[in-house]
Amino acid sequence: MHIAALELICLGHKTSATIAFHAGKPFTIALYMTHSCSKLLEERCNRILRDMEGSLTARDRVGIQDFVLLDAYTSESAVLDNLRKRFNENLIYTYIGTLLVSVNPYKELGIYTKKQMDIYMGVNFFELPPHIYALADNVYRTMLTETNNHFILISGESGAGKTEASKKILQFYAVSCPSTKLLDNVRDRLLLSNPVLEAFGNAKTLKNDNSSRFGKYMDIQFDHMGGAVGGHILSYLLEKSRVVHQNHGERSFHIFYQLVEGGEEDLLRWLGLERNCQRYSYLVQGECAKVSSVNDKSDWKTVRKALSVIEFSESNIESLFAIIASVLHLGNVTFVADSQGYLLGIPAQVIQVGLTHRKIEARSEEVLSPFTVDQAVYAKDALAKAIYGRTFTWLVNELNESLANKDSSRKTVIGLLDIYGFEVFSVNSFEQFCINYCNEKLQQLFIQLTLKSEQEEYEMEGIEWESVPYFNNKIICDLVEEKFKGIISVLDEECLRPGEATDMTFLEKLEEKMGGHAHFITHKLADQKTRKTLERGDFRLLHYAGEVTYSVVGFLDKNNDLLYRNIKEVMRQSKNAIVKHCFPSTEPDSKKRPETVATQFKSSLVGLTEVLMSKEPWYVRCMKPNEGKQPGLFDDVLVRHQVKYLGLMEHLRVRRAGFAYRRRYEIFLQRYKPLCPDTWPNWKGTAAEGVECLVKHLGYKPDEYKMGRTKIFIRHPRTLFATEDAFEVCKHELATRIQAKYKGYRVKGDYMRQRQAATKIETCWRGMKARREREKRAWAVKVIKRFIKGFMTRNQPACVDNTEYLAFVRQNYLTRLKENLPKTVVDKNTWLTPPPIMDSLTDHLIYLYCVWLPHVQLQLKGLTSSIFKGTKENYPHSVGIPFVDTRISKPHTFPQYSVPVVKYDRNGFRPRFRQLIYTGSAAYLVEEAKIKQRVEFNNLKGVSVSTLSDNFLILHVQCEDIKQKGDLVLQCDYLFEALTKLCLVANKHNFIKVVQGSVKFDIQPGREGFVDFKSGQETMIYRAKNGHLMVVSMKLKTVWPFNSQNEQIHFLNYY
Ligand SMILES: Nc1ncnc2c1ncn2[C@@H]1O[C@H](COP(=O)(O)OP(=O)(O)OP(=O)(O)O)[C@@H](O)[C@H]1O
Ligand SMILES: [Mg+2]
Repeated sequence: MHIAALELICLGHKTSATIAFHAGKPFTIALYMTHSCSKLLEERCNRILRDMEGSLTARDRVGIQDFVLLDAYTSESAVLDNLRKRFNENLIYTYIGTLLVSVNPYKELGIYTKKQMDIYMGVNFFELPPHIYALADNVYRTMLTETNNHFILISGESGAGKTEASKKILQFYAVSCPSTKLLDNVRDRLLLSNPVLEAFGNAKTLKNDNSSRFGKYMDIQFDHMGGAVGGHILSYLLEKSRVVHQNHGERSFHIFYQLVEGGEEDLLRWLGLERNCQRYSYLVQGECAKVSSVNDKSDWKTVRKALSVIEFSESNIESLFAIIASVLHLGNVTFVADSQGYLLGIPAQVIQVGLTHRKIEARSEEVLSPFTVDQAVYAKDALAKAIYGRTFTWLVNELNESLANKDSSRKTVIGLLDIYGFEVFSVNSFEQFCINYCNEKLQQLFIQLTLKSEQEEYEMEGIEWESVPYFNNKIICDLVEEKFKGIISVLDEECLRPGEATDMTFLEKLEEKMGGHAHFITHKLADQKTRKTLERGDFRLLHYAGEVTYSVVGFLDKNNDLLYRNIKEVMRQSKNAIVKHCFPSTEPDSKKRPETVATQFKSSLVGLTEVLMSKEPWYVRCMKPNEGKQPGLFDDVLVRHQVKYLGLMEHLRVRRAGFAYRRRYEIFLQRYKPLCPDTWPNWKGTAAEGVECLVKHLGYKPDEYKMGRTKIFIRHPRTLFATEDAFEVCKHELATRIQAKYKGYRVKGDYMRQRQAATKIETCWRGMKARREREKRAWAVKVIKRFIKGFMTRNQPACVDNTEYLAFVRQNYLTRLKENLPKTVVDKNTWLTPPPIMDSLTDHLIYLYCVWLPHVQLQLKGLTSSIFKGTKENYPHSVGIPFVDTRISKPHTFPQYSVPVVKYDRNGFRPRFRQLIYTGSAAYLVEEAKIKQRVEFNNLKGVSVSTLSDNFLILHVQCEDIKQKGDLVLQCDYLFEALTKLCLVANKHNFIKVVQGSVKFDIQPGREGFVDFKSGQETMIYRAKNGHLMVVSMKLKTVWPFNSQNEQIHFLNYY
């Protein structure tokens, strides 16, 4: 998690952690965090403690995994003992701080599996046993977090395991880096560039069956996500003399043997080769074309596959093998045989002339002068070396082309330097001189970067430093490379000077210039005793790694690396694309001498040093346990020697005397500030003060750290380790907080939106209610105003202002009048006093009441109103129709009331016309003169009518006997009149129920029927499917609320 991001979000949240150190125990950590978090931390701490303690208790058996923890850290023997102990337990890796010491086991240990990679991925350096994967992972993660460049310097003598180590690192990155289709492609190319380079640049030597005969520096480029996106290879000084000559027991470069042994029949035929290495003089000089540990056939397949994955074109591959084959043929040239010129695309005759003649400038003319046999052999070998050497350079360029990352975005790199190790043979020549000089330079770099720079830095930072004596090999580097004075300068001078310069004159010059130098002796310069160990043509250098005696034979030739001009011109005519490329026509004219090999090498090493100096260094020191490539054999003398010359003791002393870790205050504070509440999220003061506050909070003891001018120095890795662990835990805590914050932020957003919506709805609703209220009040005000105005103008003639008021007065009067009508017609005195406006009407009312409208009529209408007003839909329409006494055309004497009805059968609901007659005590249903049913008023339980505009009434009859008829379902056009009369006659007032929906009735005791009422477009009466009588009545225009004023007026108007 990026701290800046954490900072932004976690502002205001504080986490505090304390790390306490106790003597004897590495540390304990108490974190004041959430419960789960501290528990997690505790578990992790316990695990680490267990691991550390575990390794401490097991140390008698397996030794110490970090030399820094060695008590006798100044003792070479103690270091050796520890290495041996571990080696015997197959523990080949040991740390000195962050430096990794590796001892070649010469056997498969099963420690490079995918599972092992997974274990080491993303784990703290000191948390697991030392491993090359731990170093690789640490470099990678440091690169990602600090976004800077790094390199891993892998050093050690030939056969110590440098190339293997670099391959392991590359394989680890191939597995651990993020993977996409594109990245996988780059990964494959990076991995497969190895077998190709090894085929062309490695060979079997006495020391190593797969010895790198060139120096290799490979940059792996990573994007900001940590994906490997490209690579670049720099190669250094290929030992091309190997092409034409090999010492006994050694071979030429693998590719020759692979082609001859593994090449397909067709290919060999085309190349004119036989499947027999013995046939080629360049392959049998060391008399060991076959090596048991090398499988040329399968290696050939790997190389072929690699070349196609790296996308070499078929024509280039053909040209490449044609060159390899032509070198083999060249080796067999005897100057009379027909060389296979077609492989190089040059006519045989032209080559023949080129190999046997030399172009000499005589005045303005150029003449060809024939070679002696020796000269011709020399020219042939020179050509073979030149062709192979230049082809190798071409190959590296092609690989770079294939690995190049085209994307220009920012990249960080991890460089892998696998360069030939320090070499001492029985006879050491120019090559060993260059190789050992290279190692000398790297040692100097190592010294500069770790020892010297370490001390200088302490001084610069104002930290007290107890000086560590170390061997500074600058003196030897100067001896070799110093301008005008160094061995290379003398060699170049000798190569370039006119006259008869030989290897011996070169030696004499050396003796002249170097005589008396503490690190240089020759036979002549040596004392009596030493002289015995030196030949006359030898010189001996006292390298940092030990003494090496070089034979000067061949130094001048090898340094000149001359190729006759006319041979170059011949090569330029080649049709082979690679040869053409390697011998360009633009090559500087031979008149100007090319740089000598040694000088070229010197400059390339200067370049390499610059490249490395700009990066953060990491070291892998490889050692071989014995000279015999034997597994399980630990040669004390050999290893002690390596411990010494690899500078391990100095490194260890520095590590122990100094501080294991240092970082600029800004970087340290930036990384660890979440661990202290005062520094999190922002520290206001200087970075140094912030760090001081932080480490105090973390509980660092005074001797655990020192504050420099710009950096903090931490003595023990474990202190840093504990801090880093606390930070790891804290990161999770912070991540959880960020998560919670973010979730909260999102939910809050939702909530705010919902609240806004609710407020809006509420506002609208309240607005609407307020508007309604306002309207109601405005209406009320108007009414009151009108009322007052009406009241004020009540005595004026009817006008707009008083109409309503007067209507109210009238209505009020009529209502009161209804309640207080005189008991008898003759009683005129008790007539309610009318309001003035009713004066004129009163007489009329009295007249109506007394003369032509019996008061019963008014009472009846009043009664009807009290029953049906507001409940039955068609009631308002009945108001204006006066009730009559009876509806029998010829009134009978005894019935009180009679009305025609339609009676619906209780079973089947068939309609039948009947008369409903009320007498004083009963109601009769009569057909013509026949009484169909008699209902005693006493037995009349009630009457049901619907709320709708139909004219149905159901008379509910008390009925105990099954033989008795049940309730009556009737339809009466004068429903209100009939029912009102019934109320009066039966003297029952509250027995009419106005029902909504459905009315249940008794067909006979215990059997029920239903009448359903509903409104519709037209009036319909039918028996519904459910057996109910369905009564559909038309919806009338409602005049509800029907106020009594209108009712009375309506009624009165009628009369
Ligand atoms: N970690 C290892 N596990 C098993 N075997 C190893 C390991 N490292 C090296 N070897 C063995 O040692 C041999 C030599 O190793 P390597 O080629 O890496 O040496 P080198 O240091 O590169 O030598 P040179 O300087 O000659 O190139 C390997 O071929 C392999 O057999
Ligand atoms: Mg190697």
